[in-house]
Amino acid sequence: MREFAARRTLGFTESVIREMTRLCMLYQGSEALNLAQGFPDFPAPEPVKEAACQAIREEVNQYSITWGARDLREAIAVKVARWRGIQADPETMVTVTCGATEAMIATLLALLDPGDEVVVFQPFYENYGPDTILSGAVPRFVTLHEPDWHVDPDELAAAFGPRTKAIVINTPNNPTGKVFTRQELRLIAGLCQRWDCLAVTDEIYEHLVYNGEHVSLATLTQAGFRCFAPDGAYYVMADISAFGYPNDLEFAHHLVRDVGFAVVPGSSFYRGEGLGSQRVRFCFAKKMETLQKVEQLLSKIEPYEGH
Ligand SMILES: Cc1ncc(COP(=O)(O)O)c(C=O)c1O
Repeated sequence: MREFAARRTLGFTESVIREMTRLCMLYQGSEALNLAQGFPDFPAPEPVKEAACQAIREEVNQYSITWGARDLREAIAVKVARWRGIQADPETMVTVTCGATEAMIATLLALLDPGDEVVVFQPFYENYGPDTILSGAVPRFVTLHEPDWHVDPDELAAAFGPRTKAIVINTPNNPTGKVFTRQELRLIAGLCQRWDCLAVTDEIYEHLVYNGEHVSLATLTQAGFRCFAPDGAYYVMADISAFGYPNDLEFAHHLVRDVGFAVVPGSSFYRGEGLGSQRVRFCFAKKMETLQKVEQLLSKIEPYEGH
C-alpha cells in the first residue's frame, strides 16, 4: 500500500508521556493515580479563571494581530524587564504563540535548513527530537551527568562545529529538574559566540526554582562588557558593571588570576574618587589568534557573587 505520511515523520511514535496517560486511564479508570503526564490535578487559580470568564463576557474573541495582541505583548515586555532586566520592544521583539510547543517548532522551522546541526541536551523534553527532525536538522545530543545533571564542558564544546546553527536549552529542565548555572550558561554563550550560532531557550518553568537561581541566557547572550568603540589608536575601554564587581581592580585580578588574560583597571587612567572603577582597558594590537584565545576565555568570567 502507498505510504502517504511524509518520510520525515516515519520514525515518529505516539508521545510516550501521553501513551502512559492513556494506559493509566485504560487500566485504572478515571480515578487513576497518574504521575506520568505533567499536568496538575488541582484546579487553576480563581483569578485566572475569572479573567478568562471576564474576557469572554467582554467579547474579547476576535482575531488578534498575528504576532499577538498588543496589550499582551506590552505586558510580557514589562514582565521580562521586571523579572530579568531584559529590555524587549513589544512591537518587534515579542511574539505570542499558542504555548511553548508552537513557539519551539516555529522558531526551529524558521531558523534551520536541512543539514544544519542543533545541540540538544539529554535527557530531553520529548518534543525537541521531532522538532529538529521536522526542521530537517541533525540533533547533536550532549548528556547531562547524574547526580547533579552537570554539563561536561569538553563534551559540550565537542558538539559544536561549523554546521552548528543552534542549541536548545530548557532551564529549569524537564525531566531532570536541573537549573542551569550561570557558569554553564556563560560557557554556552561563549560557544554560541565562537561558532556564531543561536541559543533557543525554553524557560516555561522559570518560576519553579527550589535551589539556585533561574538565569535567562538572554541576560548573558553578550560577554557582559559594554564597549565604547574606538575611533583611533588600538585600545577599547569597556564597562564591566554587568559583572557586579565592587571595583575594576578586583575584576582585573579575577581575569588575570582565574580566567587567563590581562587587562588594565580603568581607575588607573583617572584621578578622582570612583572614576573608572567600572571600566577596564583592552589593547587589541594582537595577533588574531591571540584575540580568538581571549574570546574563548570570556565564558569563564564569573560574576562577583560567584566568588
Ligand atoms: C519543557 C517543556 N516545554 C514545553 C512544554 C509544553 O508547553 P505548552 O503546553 O505551552 O505547549 C512542556 C510541557 O510539559 C515542557 O515540559
